[in-house]
Amino acid sequence: MGLQFVSRAAILAVLFTTAGRAQDAVSRHDLQAKMDYCKTCHGSSGQGFRAYYSIPRLAGQQPEYLTNQLQAFSERRRTNNIMFNVAHVLTPAMQKALVTDFHELNPKPLGGAPKDLVTAGKKIYEEGIPSADIPPCASCHGPDAKGNEQFPRLAGQLHDYIFNKLTNWSKERGQKPGEPDVSAIMEPIAHGLTEPQVKAVAAYVSYLE
Ligand code: HEC
Ligand code: HEC
Repeated sequence: MGLQFVSRAAILAVLFTTAGRAQDAVSRHDLQAKMDYCKTCHGSSGQGFRAYYSIPRLAGQQPEYLTNQLQAFSERRRTNNIMFNVAHVLTPAMQKALVTDFHELNPKPLGGAPKDLVTAGKKIYEEGIPSADIPPCASCHGPDAKGNEQFPRLAGQLHDYIFNKLTNWSKERGQKPGEPDVSAIMEPIAHGLTEPQVKAVAAYVSYLE
């Protein structure tokens, strides 16, 4: 009787832990170890980390966007040596499990951007810059900057990371001209923003929860 109970509980436990996760071969233990590894750079709650390079927030990020970036790093369409090394060893099942777990985290933004830029940044975010043909960021990244599918969340992202990415867009993304990807959508927008405009809009979104 007791033994029967234990084995039934064990079977249920197995069913519950595998349901909803990547069904293929990722054990809890392997996933946890990999998450811990990612967090040594991306922050203990995936909130991002300020170091010599700003390391982006992954918490709450759209799974489809995260998957696209991991693939872009490993195919060298997006250039970054650190993330090439990290990404190209991940199995599809591990990728799926990781992006699901990071999407579920919800720490407070790190902050740190100049607060006096926020009002100007909000205006750019919501209205774009019609004179420069820049559409409202909100039209793709969503009114609350939470993103959707391939459109990344910007809410809570590190302002200095955003600044770096928008300033270097055409040197880092879409680096295989024969294999154009979705990064082409952002190219003219990143290119069309002036440095003060990038700083303002980066400050605004970095404080959004
Ligand atoms: C040794 C440090 C380090 C480790 C470990 C690391 N990353 Fe990164 N990651 C970075 C850096 C630095 C960047 C920023 C690259 C850039 O500036 O383009 C980055 C960028 C990313 C991006 C792009 C985010 C965006 O907003 O576009 C994703 C996705 C990502 N990492 C996922 C992971 C995952 C998943 C793991 C664990 C399997 C991981 N990283 C482990 C340093 C690291
Ligand atoms: C027409 C749709 C569209 C508009 C409008 C748009 N974006 Fe994007 N944005 C995208 C897409 C798609 C990506 C993902 C590109 C990729 O996967 O390489 C992106 C990526 C980004 C990234 C990179 C995020 C990261 O984590 O590395 C930043 C930063 C960004 N956009 C900021 C902005 C800002 C600021 C505005 C407004 C001035 C804006 N975007 C307007 C579609 C758009």
